Amino acid sequence: MTSGLDCASSRIISPAYRSVSSANDFIVADDEKYGNKQIISVTPRLYDYILQHVREPEILRQLREETAGMRGSQMQVSPDQAQLLATLVQILGAHRCIEVGVYTGYSSLAIALVLPESGCLVACERDARSLEVAKRYYELAAVSHKVNVKHGLAADTLKSLILNGEACSYDFAFVDAEKRMYQEYYELLLQLVRVGGVIVMDNVLWHGKVADPMVNDAKTISIRNFNKNLMEDKRVSISMVPIGDGMTICWKR
Ligand SMILES: C[S@@+](CC[C@H](N)C(=O)[O-])C[C@H]1O[C@@H](n2cnc3c(N)ncnc32)[C@H](O)[C@@H]1O
Repeated sequence: MTSGLDCASSRIISPAYRSVSSANDFIVADDEKYGNKQIISVTPRLYDYILQHVREPEILRQLREETAGMRGSQMQVSPDQAQLLATLVQILGAHRCIEVGVYTGYSSLAIALVLPESGCLVACERDARSLEVAKRYYELAAVSHKVNVKHGLAADTLKSLILNGEACSYDFAFVDAEKRMYQEYYELLLQLVRVGGVIVMDNVLWHGKVADPMVNDAKTISIRNFNKNLMEDKRVSISMVPIGDGMTICWKR
């Protein structure tokens, strides 16, 4: 058994939580406050195990390894996150998708790979240099015909899609760009996604800062407010998932 404050999860372990571990390689918080549910914390060893059980396509592995040497590589979604996105796209049978924040293309490629041949992903990104990498990998993976790259500010692109009469015509959207714009991206995407479609918002836990009252920088406040607004938003069903930096899955009612 380990003590309550001896690991990276110390932030979530309050007196209401009792930490127990049978094998020293992961921690289970026994949450008495919520009916003694056992909550697992992901330690490095356990995360390695999770990654060993991700089916990462070879082309995604190559892109991840190339990006690892680039500036901003920490922005890329993790393999388990990309796999979740791809699975959601498949569950939905999605044909039309939007991504806000492409970087070098890891998450967008994961989505494009599982889209049907007639499918389309609108990929919004303002940085031309990272888009060059993304486009090269779309070519290598033979999915270029499925990806409609939109270079520019994402909010402008989303507004132009709406003006173009494309409201309610998308099945799936993924948001992973400017954190202070989350509410605006979300409102625009809610117009673009059909009833029964899904919007996934990344970084909703923001390295845990959203739960720390001592952290009040503009990005943290923005994500905190977004999460709060979403709780009260009856237009969607929601699920906040502690994967990567936290993702909220929103299903449009
Ligand atoms: C976290 S990264 C995206 C990572 C990507 N989803 C992946 O898995 O590799 C965020 C990206 O959003 C882009 N971005 C930020 N603000 C933007 C905006 N207003 N319009 C378009 N792209 C933006 C950044 O240039 C950056 O490449």
